[in-house]
Amino acid sequence: MRGFFISVEGSDGSGKSTQIKKIEAYLKSKNQEILLTREPGGTVISEKIRELLLDPGNKEMTVRAEMLLYAAARAQHLEEFILPNLYQGRNVLTDRFTDSSIAYQGFGRELGDVVAEVNHIATGGICPDITFFLDLAPDAGIARKKAEIDHAMDRLELEKKEFHQRVYSGYLALCDLHGQRICRIDASRDIDSVFAEIQAGLDRLFGF
Ligand code: TYD
Repeated sequence: MRGFFISVEGSDGSGKSTQIKKIEAYLKSKNQEILLTREPGGTVISEKIRELLLDPGNKEMTVRAEMLLYAAARAQHLEEFILPNLYQGRNVLTDRFTDSSIAYQGFGRELGDVVAEVNHIATGGICPDITFFLDLAPDAGIARKKAEIDHAMDRLELEKKEFHQRVYSGYLALCDLHGQRICRIDASRDIDSVFAEIQAGLDRLFGF
């Protein structure tokens, strides 16, 4: 049987990493194999593309080049890592997937529908079985990131407030559009309350 494909999405600082670790521990406690990966990244080539994308020095990068690089990293990640593992029956959890491109490039960069088209080419329309969107208003997220000791802001985090507001509105639009797949979770609460909702979604998916 094919494994389950899970993604976690959220604005910067929404607490994704903490919740991803909790998902991993929970599934392991249920004797489920789970592989963690991330975007942009997850393969050697995709991690090289990640460096280009996040380097604050790459100020000249055009928004279309940025969209295509995220899509290229995703195509490689999907074909080289995600799909082979799913077909071998392993569950895969990715920190971000196509929804990030729709929110950041489609809404944040205002590229619109072309982002979905390009990503359809990159993924053949494959999307996660379930997506957990950690919903945190952008101001709160950025404040959390800045409060982290030694956190060097990457190229996208350095964008202005309006950009992050547009990204957030993109996520809300995606939640409306894909209400079946995306579980919208209020991430302003404490870690355990957030995870309780995620766990309910996992229990439904795995049939625990
Ligand atoms: P990362 O350090 O992984 O940030 P986070 O911890 O918030 O996930 O950096 C990924 C950055 O790239 C993040 O700011 C979101 C952005 N991004 C896009 O703009 N488009 C995409 O398709 C993806 C996957 C990420």
